[in-house]
Amino acid sequence: MAISVFSHASFVYTGEGIVNKEGRMLVPDDVSAIADGAIVCDSDKILWVGKTSELPAKYKKVKAMKLKGKRAIMPGLIDSHTHLVFAGSRAHEFARRCAGTTYQEIANEGGGILTTVKATREASIEQLFELAIKRALIAYRHGVRTIECKSGYGLDHESEIKCLKVIEHLKKAIPQMTFVSTYLGAHAIPPNVKKAKYIDEMIHQTLPEIKKKNLAEFCDVFVDEGYYSHQDGERILRAAKKLGLKTKIHADEMGNTESAHLAAKLEAHSADHLLKISNKGIAALAKADTVAGLLPGTAFYLKEAYAPARKMLDAGVRVAIATDFNPGSCYSLNLPLMMNLSALHMQMNSAEIFAGVTYSAAASLGREATKGALLPGFDSDFVVLPYDRFEEMYYRMGW
Ligand code: NIG
Ligand code: FE
Repeated sequence: MAISVFSHASFVYTGEGIVNKEGRMLVPDDVSAIADGAIVCDSDKILWVGKTSELPAKYKKVKAMKLKGKRAIMPGLIDSHTHLVFAGSRAHEFARRCAGTTYQEIANEGGGILTTVKATREASIEQLFELAIKRALIAYRHGVRTIECKSGYGLDHESEIKCLKVIEHLKKAIPQMTFVSTYLGAHAIPPNVKKAKYIDEMIHQTLPEIKKKNLAEFCDVFVDEGYYSHQDGERILRAAKKLGLKTKIHADEMGNTESAHLAAKLEAHSADHLLKISNKGIAALAKADTVAGLLPGTAFYLKEAYAPARKMLDAGVRVAIATDFNPGSCYSLNLPLMMNLSALHMQMNSAEIFAGVTYSAAASLGREATKGALLPGFDSDFVVLPYDRFEEMYYRMGW
């Protein structure tokens, strides 16, 4: 296999300190920056990382890409929560929201998520793919190399399967990126269908077909006031687990339903949103491996208070940062912008921000053994930054 060498990087950020602490109680030095660093890899795995001056003799024969001390190297960014597949626009609803109508009022009128469901049901798989691939490439240009993508705007068997198939097509179309698919059939209650009937459809028809055709790795449920209850969430996620899927919860976003606690109890890989998490929820996550997926772009876009990140981090919770890219509550694919918001509004330190888009994001996707750090044996998955320090990435706002 061909070997590549990158040398004379201003810094190689390995994230080793973060890995050693499993993402908890981080101090800035845990980014483990090697000054004047080098990295050696083949097309699959990292073989060696260290100082350029210590490059082993056998790799000196390989023509190196010399970065002249001007560029830093870090793990490929991981956007661990997106709703990438949907059709239609909600620009008109956004304008109304800015003029004072609330997100919930628009949803109660049959708009919001249901506006997007209508457009997504009407779209062909080809149309959905065209939209999704453009979005994936925007994420790529922001340094994202692994992206989680949810279904959830179909809300019936056929349309949900159609959206998951789009993600399968993305995997083939962009092999430079890793796509992780999540079935979020329980994103809202479908119009004109009883919730109990839809839950039966999810459990008895859609989940078994997903399993049979290997169409998703995760199952997610929106457990919130007016959406799915604890009991509903537990039923759906236990059925998914039985089939071998991993789980996530959209938790404590609009109100507190103690759904972070439920995520910890079910050993979900992540509990995401958490704007309204309680102390009980924080204590449960601190004891669990469940990662808190924080989505500061959504708080910003909905003009809500940010999740209590500092409280969670100080309690020992593992925190990931993601875009939540979706047409209603965060129409942005700019993960570095979310890092900027995390620094400014959630008082996160540089290692916490770094871990949020590398190690902890990988852990929330069950990939912490291969992604999110630059150590021998990890995937050859890194980005060469157009600047000499990692902090430049979130100092710039929305570039
Ligand atoms: O993650 N919380 C639920 N779902 C999305 C918003 C969906 C929409 O408005 O289309 C979210 O914020
Ligand atoms: Fe979401």
